[in-house]
Amino acid sequence: TTRIIMDCDPGIDDAAAISVALNNPEFDVRLITTVAGNVTVDKTTRNALKLVHFFDKKVPVASGAEQPLIKPFEDAARIHGESGMPGYDFDEFVGETVKHSAMEALYLTIMRSSKPVTIVPTGAYTNIALLLAVHPEVKSRITRIVAMGGALGRGNMTSAAEFNVYTDPDAARIMYNSGIPIVMIGLDVTMKALLTPKTLETVSTLGEAGNMLASIFKHYYEGHEGGIPMHDVNTICYLLHPEYYQTVNYWIDIQTSGPAIGETVADIRGAYHNGQTNAEVAVGIDTDDFNRWFIEEVRAMKV
Ligand code: BDR
Ligand code: CA
Repeated sequence: TTRIIMDCDPGIDDAAAISVALNNPEFDVRLITTVAGNVTVDKTTRNALKLVHFFDKKVPVASGAEQPLIKPFEDAARIHGESGMPGYDFDEFVGETVKHSAMEALYLTIMRSSKPVTIVPTGAYTNIALLLAVHPEVKSRITRIVAMGGALGRGNMTSAAEFNVYTDPDAARIMYNSGIPIVMIGLDVTMKALLTPKTLETVSTLGEAGNMLASIFKHYYEGHEGGIPMHDVNTICYLLHPEYYQTVNYWIDIQTSGPAIGETVADIRGAYHNGQTNAEVAVGIDTDDFNRWFIEEVRAMKV
């Protein structure tokens, strides 16, 4: 099994990623931490708790950063709805977060783990940056970071920037300069991992978990020709099936000001960093593989 910590802002596609990770026995989810992103952190935290409760799991949830390190906070409620996870009637009772902040919970969970841990961020990287700044000793205990965010091509927030990196570019810079191995799951690959209308229909028939996911997907205002992108789910899919993904190694720098703020700049010619790299960047996946895989994951979910 792979020990993971999910750092997220659920968020409809985050919810799908968490649902798969909580149910697939290949993962040992040690902690879920939340951050402001798609919606405010009180809502992303409540949504994470809803999912843990829905699947009746004992995974601790810790609430994290209310805002980015420097840049003012801008949400994406127009895409993910007011609550961040609309369209399904979750229980009112959702249980409680742990007492520690996300940053402290990350620190304690990583340092107390007998084995190194993989971090899976699917929101802005604010909690991770705070952790690395305050407790740099965690670095040697982290296997790698498999992060959704960034784009070699066009952004989805501005022409240059993808939402998670745009939300907190200063945090992204700290993470990319940390020396921890990073897998960048950006728009180059996630815009190829679209769930087709046919898959969505199938998912809706797969028990209460399928019904829950299909119900929240209906409220996802990110339709594209061919289907809806499941950005965050690709982190989990990559961990299970790296063979599905084409990747390239680059040095990634983050723009933290100006018109390209939040852009992930790849040193494609190796000119700026002397051929050194800090990230494995996913660039390709077969849409059919992704759809087939996702259906099987939902089919295996137990509520
Ligand atoms: C990312 O932005 C968020 O809205 C999604 O949850 C995903 O993490 C895609 O750019
Ligand atoms: Ca997200």
